[in-house]
Amino acid sequence: MKGRSVGKPRAVRPRVGTDFFGHGEAIRASLVKRLPRRPVQALDAGTGFGRNALFLARHLAAGSHVWSVDPSEESLLRGIEAVQAAGLLPTVSLGPGSAEKLPFADGYFHLAMAVMLFHHLVAVPPALCEMARVTRRGGKLLFVDWAPTAHLLPFAIEHRPDDFFTPHAIAEMLQDLGLAPKVEHHPMWYIIEARRL
Ligand SMILES: C[S@@+](CC[C@H](N)C(=O)[O-])C[C@H]1O[C@@H](n2cnc3c(N)ncnc32)[C@H](O)[C@@H]1O
Repeated sequence: MKGRSVGKPRAVRPRVGTDFFGHGEAIRASLVKRLPRRPVQALDAGTGFGRNALFLARHLAAGSHVWSVDPSEESLLRGIEAVQAAGLLPTVSLGPGSAEKLPFADGYFHLAMAVMLFHHLVAVPPALCEMARVTRRGGKLLFVDWAPTAHLLPFAIEHRPDDFFTPHAIAEMLQDLGLAPKVEHHPMWYIIEARRL
């Protein structure tokens, strides 16, 4: 969990196993229209239990490949199980890795994505910089995360507003990398995309 959240131990609430707490349909609808139409190499950083990897495998053009990384062995095992159960192992490769140090060559990806990752990071700029490095010129960086208002949602571990970044803060970090981000802001979540120049 994030360094700046250190403080009093917080209450652990029962996990509500919903699809992004009821926001899943809207999030996917907004994402799907932003995906490239031709076959691509796609990165899914912070893949967790493989939800976004499966989404990408199902919605990207045939011939695409999804490369998923996560530093948590337990998450990776759950991700691999989910991808295997869906019969999508030929399309998705999962392995250990952190967004700040990606095991890929410069410019390898047409699409670099992270879903609900930022609020797990101590510092976001190193991850953005690394994700930009592995994205080819003309490729797309695509992010979804919870807005600070999402602290009201029943996460397994209670969150405070400052556990989350505002879309404005993320957009500024991308601008600092010389990118021109476009933000779609919803009350509880946001999407940011930027083209690699
Ligand atoms: C909320 S979960 C991800 C959800 C997933 N992307 C999805 O769409 O369902 C956040 C994940 O980020 C991973 N994570 C934490 N620190 C990370 C880092 N530095 N780089 C990449 N992943 C990280 C955690 O292990 C966890 O699996």
